[in-house]
Amino acid sequence: MNTPAIIDLPRFEDPRGNLSFIEQSKHIPFTIKRTYWIYDVPGGEVRGGHAFLSQKELIVALSGSFDVVVKNGLAEETFSLNRSYYGLYVPPGIWRQMANFSTNSLALVLSSTDYDKDDYVRDFNAYLKMKSHAS
Ligand code: TYD
Repeated sequence: MNTPAIIDLPRFEDPRGNLSFIEQSKHIPFTIKRTYWIYDVPGGEVRGGHAFLSQKELIVALSGSFDVVVKNGLAEETFSLNRSYYGLYVPPGIWRQMANFSTNSLALVLSSTDYDKDDYVRDFNAYLKMKSHAS
């Protein structure tokens, strides 16, 4: 998978409450090295305007809703996440930004790597330059 895609996660619907889960390498195309979450985002704030060189990730709206805007240098797509049984898989080399967080939203991110600041491309022009050299 080298383009961003929604992964439909397993879900057990139950009158007592629903349950979903993720097994690495089975439901998502990587092994999980790290997990982090984004919460208490003030209205109107934007997070994560960057690309990763090698990190793969899965983003889940565990609670509430937000948009993930992805770009590959040529096209742009917006994924609105608002269900805890959908995950957005983002492969390396994709510019991604998160916005329109609802009140009390909770974004879970599963990552294929340890935190590495050198894996980030934070400048969009540098990103475009990198993509144009890659193609
Ligand atoms: P960052 O990924 O830059 O968030 P955003 O792109 O949404 O602004 O992370 C913010 C800070 O948190 C960054 O300075 C480093 C720290 N951080 C870690 O130490 N470990 C992690 O796993 C992550 C994701 C961030």
